[in-house]
Amino acid sequence: MMDLFSAIEEPEREELKALRKELEEANYKYYVLNMPTLSDREFDEKMHRLQTLEAQFPDMFDPKSPTQHVGSDLGKKGFEQVKHKYPMLSLANSYSREEIEDWVRKLPSGVEIVCELKYDGLSISLWYEHGVLVRALTRGDGQQGDDVIANIKTIPSIPWRIERDDIPEFFELRGEVLLPWERFEALNKEREEQEEPLFANPRNAASGTLKLQDPKEVARRGLTAYLYYMLGENLPGKTHYERLQTAKEWGFHISDAIKVCHSVDEVMAYIAYWDTERKNLPVATDGIVLKVNNLAQQEELGYTAKTPRWAIAYKFPAEKQLTLLKEITYQVGRTGVVTPVANLEPVQLSGTVVQRATLHNEDFIRSLDIRPGDMVWVEKGGEIIPKIVGRADREETSDPRIPRTPSFPSCCPECGTPLIRVEGEAAWRCPNETGCPPQIKGKIEHFVSRKAMDIEGLGEETIDLLYQKGLLHNIADIYSLRQADIAAQERLGDKSAQNILDGIEASKKVPWSRVLFALGIRMVGETTAKKIARVYNTIDSLQWATAEQLCAIEDVGPQIAENIVRYFEDIRNLEILDRLRQAGLQMEGEAAAEPASDKLAGMSIVISGTFSLHSRDEYKAMIEAHGGKNVGSVSKKTTFILAGENMGPEKLKKAEALGIRLMSEEEFLEMIK
Ligand code: IVH
Repeated sequence: MMDLFSAIEEPEREELKALRKELEEANYKYYVLNMPTLSDREFDEKMHRLQTLEAQFPDMFDPKSPTQHVGSDLGKKGFEQVKHKYPMLSLANSYSREEIEDWVRKLPSGVEIVCELKYDGLSISLWYEHGVLVRALTRGDGQQGDDVIANIKTIPSIPWRIERDDIPEFFELRGEVLLPWERFEALNKEREEQEEPLFANPRNAASGTLKLQDPKEVARRGLTAYLYYMLGENLPGKTHYERLQTAKEWGFHISDAIKVCHSVDEVMAYIAYWDTERKNLPVATDGIVLKVNNLAQQEELGYTAKTPRWAIAYKFPAEKQLTLLKEITYQVGRTGVVTPVANLEPVQLSGTVVQRATLHNEDFIRSLDIRPGDMVWVEKGGEIIPKIVGRADREETSDPRIPRTPSFPSCCPECGTPLIRVEGEAAWRCPNETGCPPQIKGKIEHFVSRKAMDIEGLGEETIDLLYQKGLLHNIADIYSLRQADIAAQERLGDKSAQNILDGIEASKKVPWSRVLFALGIRMVGETTAKKIARVYNTIDSLQWATAEQLCAIEDVGPQIAENIVRYFEDIRNLEILDRLRQAGLQMEGEAAAEPASDKLAGMSIVISGTFSLHSRDEYKAMIEAHGGKNVGSVSKKTTFILAGENMGPEKLKKAEALGIRLMSEEEFLEMIK
């Protein structure tokens, strides 16, 4: 009997595991890579399903499950990590009047509810001691965050100091850091011109900006902030609303769109008003936050593991429009994957005109049975590329002029090669890697991109032009380009030709790990390339590595190993590599393995605070290069602390107690000279 039950339960247990994995990944992509893959709604639905399954199978409880902690944006180096005084929680989401009513039903009767806009940026916690801004922490994993105070100080509306007698010794203000629409668009335009990857939305742009190690650049981008929550001991006021008004008097930037409501009807009216009016705001909003106004009631209601019970978010529905699908075309990407693209009757959506949207893959088209001539729903989620999310009912007809669901092309629309469908993947792929134009150009574009060989001047258009003229067919051709060939092209004069050649020359110094990444071996990304290059210090050693040996490298699984082995089996690749070597590219690791000195051998060094001469990462690298070990926390084994400005008070206290020496940047640099 038991066996029968377990057999029935098995698919749900598998689903639970798969959901955990998917949500972990989605969190990582959202918080660490700034590249959201799921819409908020999809994320919430999956999270909800996971919670249901976890309740059903208590034996599968895991404290590391995404249901047990808020998504983390830790993992960025270079900022001091500081524990929050009060954990930074997230909010439960709701999407309808019914869900709001469910929440209100659990509150004491007659409560006042404060409605605020839900700003779509990233949260920040500002600490004020004796009126002075001393820390500005990101949410991080909710327990500890990065201190980004140097960047926060570039925001004009955030006061560095409050000069008043009536403020508590310590208080904390929380709010949202945002990049206004106008700044976001200007930044993306600039990035487009420089051929840098675009930010998908203002939130990602704000997050990327706040993590820069260059406050000057942060200042130039023009962040702003709204504050919405004050915490601390002995604070004035009995209600949330009063506290925010006090904060406003003290000089903080508090939104005017705050309203105390007494019924769900009033709340819904506020929502209806702002769902339209928000389009005129200078910053992005994605919903409304409802908070119990009375602070004593808030305290009584308390918290769950992840969210307060006294507050809830209402999310605006993602903007969707119905429009005509005129035609489906097929686009071939750098790796040969063929993506169906919907060509639409132009439609206005979230401030821009949309005429193309992704249809993902063949299975997607089939599952929605989408045909040209249909009216389709197009949505702009967190991604740059809009997507089709459904179609309007169509009158079924046997009219032979109405096409059937289009069949996916069997041959590459660019080069005619029969497509292959890789097992386990939904995508069709053109296998003609070296003869298919978008794959050829895509490989070259990848090769010259900033994180690879970083060849300035060789942008998408120029590559296309040189390809059309028969001057560029593969990455090795780049090193055979001559000044006269380039300068003779329309739009490219002597100056751009020289610029390109300078870029090409400079690329010969790019280290081996980046050359390996630039080769564009399938699934060998930037980080994997670094890890491989650390183990295989020369291209010759890598060429002879077996799949089994490669799998021993961290992050390299059988699929990647296979791709690498295949790459070196292809004679065309070997010829290209030979030409690259002759051109003088770095096909061997620099003497990184050899330490610069052993001046710091045996020493355990803690880095703390902010620095002005080098970045944290650079100091870390210096410590390692001179034989030392960089450790995270102070203990009696610590040899010394490389101390910058605003060192963490905990570390300082501990260092004093243990009598550990603090060394300045200058002293340290002198020491390793
Ligand atoms: S209150 C304990 N108020 O939404 C609750 N949050 O999805 C503290 N957010 O992490 C948050 N606007 O980053 C609050 N008016 C507002 C907000 C707001 C945006 C963000 C905040 C929070 C996230 C939760």
